[in-house]
Amino acid sequence: MPKEIKIGIFGLGTVGQSVVEQIRVNGLLIEARTGILPRVIKAVTANPHKPRSVDLTDIEVSADPNFILDDPEIDLVIELIGGCDLAKEILLTSFAKGKAVVTANKALLAVHSREIFGAAAKTGARLGFEASVAGGIPILRMIREGLSGDRITGVSGIINGTSNYILTQMSEQGQSFADALKDAQALGYAEADPTFDVEGIDQAHKLLILMNLAFGGLFSFDQLYAEGITQIESIDIAMAKEFGYKIKLLGKAIDRGGSYEGRVHPALVPEDDLLAAVNGAFNAVSVEADFAGHLMAYGRGAGGHPTSSAVVADLVGVIRSFKGEAPPPLSLLPDRLVPKEILPIGEISSEYYLRFSVLDRVGVLAKITRALGDQNISISSMIQNERAAKAKDAVDVVIFTHQALERDIRKALEEIGQMDFIARPTKLIRVDSP
Ligand code: HSE
Repeated sequence: MPKEIKIGIFGLGTVGQSVVEQIRVNGLLIEARTGILPRVIKAVTANPHKPRSVDLTDIEVSADPNFILDDPEIDLVIELIGGCDLAKEILLTSFAKGKAVVTANKALLAVHSREIFGAAAKTGARLGFEASVAGGIPILRMIREGLSGDRITGVSGIINGTSNYILTQMSEQGQSFADALKDAQALGYAEADPTFDVEGIDQAHKLLILMNLAFGGLFSFDQLYAEGITQIESIDIAMAKEFGYKIKLLGKAIDRGGSYEGRVHPALVPEDDLLAAVNGAFNAVSVEADFAGHLMAYGRGAGGHPTSSAVVADLVGVIRSFKGEAPPPLSLLPDRLVPKEILPIGEISSEYYLRFSVLDRVGVLAKITRALGDQNISISSMIQNERAAKAKDAVDVVIFTHQALERDIRKALEEIGQMDFIARPTKLIRVDSP
């Protein structure tokens, strides 16, 4: 039997259920990385009898917070209920009882950061909060570990999926603000109180957490300027487009050599800026670091699975810190590493750009397309440049294929290469389609 870590989880909403699912699905993988099997044994939710779509076998469910907090077997508490009152009690009590905590609660960490981080420091408690900022993007870990030798001078980004979804729908689909918000709620992106999303408050919570980490301090949430997207009308989006801009809800923090800017507001972003390409519920965070320079992380910032990915990564971090171990170089425990094979290039499947240099004669195209067809390669488009000036000059025929096996393409090209009208070797470039 592998060793286990016993977990109590507060909240069985969209994210809570995803965390239970992810621990079931990836439990053995986590065991292979840490030597410890994570097991959720208890859950606390306001409505314990509500049917859930996730499998709750072997998980005892209650409405009483002490059901988890008083259980000495539970080493790790995952807090996913949101809000500030009960959640704060859960964190402080867990710290006092020596339980590690993983939370996604950005409002709590932003508004009560001094109290929470102070209590964690005083008790030496382990506190993971990767899920509180930008869902599935491991931006906190990237700053804390990947940039631990750099001075961070700026952090900016799009870190509220709901408002970015609304602005994208208004801009690309002509959808109304109200309809787009309804869709975002149905897709599980929005906060329980969606004014937090559309008034820039949720994004401000996340920016404050980023500032605390990036600039190494405890900032006051009340000092952060926050303006949302409720005043943006379709005419503004159309006008911005006219001048080559997109409207995005931006969070921006700058270290001005010891004085700090921190603000959230809609902004016109040039259409060719990377941030302008961040659409739908996606988030992106861009960081200025003194030696690494400018870098950017992009991914899903809201929704059950991406947020649970961050929660479970923190859970792995807690297990490793309990064991006093740094992550193994290749993440898996060294004794679990086995040699693995890479498929031969012939086994890949892709779309292809093929440029044939051919003598412009009758029947050439028919022979090329037949050779491709014989290998089950389907053509998606084709173009031949203008006629050769003299019959002996080669012309270029470009063929795009649908998805095909590389080994079939190579077989067809080998056959075509023998044909007497081929003037130069055929060019093959793979099309990187999503
Ligand atoms: N309501 C948040 C958002 C969820 O839309 O980004 C993730 O924090």
